[in-house]
Amino acid sequence: MSDLTIPIPQNFILGASSSAWQTEGWTGKKENQDSYIDIWYKNDRHVWYEGYGPAIATDLINRYQEDVDLMKKIGLTHYRTSINWSRFLTDYENAIVDEDYASHYDNFITAMLESGITPMICLEHYELPAELFYKYGGWGSKHVVELFTKYAQKVFERYNHLVKRWFVFNEPIVIQTRVYLDAVRWPYEQNTNTWMQWNHNKNLATAKVVQLFRNNNYQGTIGTILNPEVTYARSNSKEDQQAAKLYDLFYNRVFLDPAFNGEYPQELIELLAKHHVKWDYSDQELEIIKQYRVDEVGINLYFPHRVKAATKEWNKNMPFHPAYYYEPFDLPGKIMNKSRGWEIYPKIVYDFAMRVKQEYNNKSWFICENGMGIEDEKRFKNSDGIIQDDYRIDFISMHIYWALKAINDGANCGGYMLWAFTDNVSPMNAFKNRYGLIEINLEKNRARSMKKSAFWFEKLIKTRQLAIKLDDQYK
Ligand code: BG6
Repeated sequence: MSDLTIPIPQNFILGASSSAWQTEGWTGKKENQDSYIDIWYKNDRHVWYEGYGPAIATDLINRYQEDVDLMKKIGLTHYRTSINWSRFLTDYENAIVDEDYASHYDNFITAMLESGITPMICLEHYELPAELFYKYGGWGSKHVVELFTKYAQKVFERYNHLVKRWFVFNEPIVIQTRVYLDAVRWPYEQNTNTWMQWNHNKNLATAKVVQLFRNNNYQGTIGTILNPEVTYARSNSKEDQQAAKLYDLFYNRVFLDPAFNGEYPQELIELLAKHHVKWDYSDQELEIIKQYRVDEVGINLYFPHRVKAATKEWNKNMPFHPAYYYEPFDLPGKIMNKSRGWEIYPKIVYDFAMRVKQEYNNKSWFICENGMGIEDEKRFKNSDGIIQDDYRIDFISMHIYWALKAINDGANCGGYMLWAFTDNVSPMNAFKNRYGLIEINLEKNRARSMKKSAFWFEKLIKTRQLAIKLDDQYK
């Protein structure tokens, strides 16, 4: 083990992320303002941890000033959240703004700016309006793409003078993969065609919002946030390598290639056709995707993905699923975050950075989410009641270490945004796994208090020196 102190470049962002629905808890919501998340909860409450849903969340809408003060104390320069599409409008067809809801974001964004914190705002973090899900099948519909563009315009009109860093989607692949590909989430409907249609319509919506942004000459940048799973093959065998390559094609390149290069990989289009996956796309839409590319990509990185060649023949009576080509590989001896069931492998940051350098022309990107959710953190409180989350400090340190090493080797990684600033509601896991620098005490009216990691992050931002104990193999 060696003790190292590594300087953090001045322009490397040290911030934190969250989303509207996981924090806001707005009580003014009207009956027609549910989001997909709300109806998932309403229809399938028993799968949510202790029956806890997103209704109150961290009560940010009433306590934003307290949170902004804490951001300021810690020294955050950037904070990312979303605007909740389902709440921002009262009428989705005509894009009528809900003035009551929007006024809270007016205040929150202004409070951040007054405290010297740059707001980074995302337009959709799973907050598809339920009405559009029921009426049109959500992102399967081109009409919904048009309605999203109208919504985006209203948000830009209201905030473009305040917000200079925008993002279209957060993790656009997630909902349809859980719902329509794996059928493990409400409404549990396996349909690979629908899965691909949602993928494509979200790529199209991204390009259309970029087009809108450019046509109106809004100042600042427009990006998107993806969650590629850094994928490793079990071995160097031809078969395992092919399994990893195809896993990457179906789950990562389906969004990475349009974002960075403006087009789908030809091999993906061919394989979808070979397996009779039907999705509605036109040359004109592909041209829009090509022409209107994002300025930057935020990347959410939590854990590695490991695969091996498929060992069983695919049941030909089943609809096509990319698992036709791979099986999960369970690495013996892997280091785990047992609370979340996710492997810890911080080198994913370096490997992803090198990939962007080599395969995507070293385009601009940054770590938009990374963090560690831990169950029952109360057990780590010291006698002063402060959670001693050294495991989180180690986790963050190692991921930043690999980012800095990548930058040293020429990567174009612009920063590190922790998930999350405060503990918040997780899809299905509710408040089970805590991610925050700031504890939210549910027993004490959601009182906020800094964890040990918050004091550590404050020092990191102030000194811009990463002090780390490193296993010699990584030096
Ligand atoms: C990311 C999402 O995938 O992971 C967040 O953008 C989410 O919304 C975070 O909360 C952590 O995952 P989870 O399921 O433990 O909350």
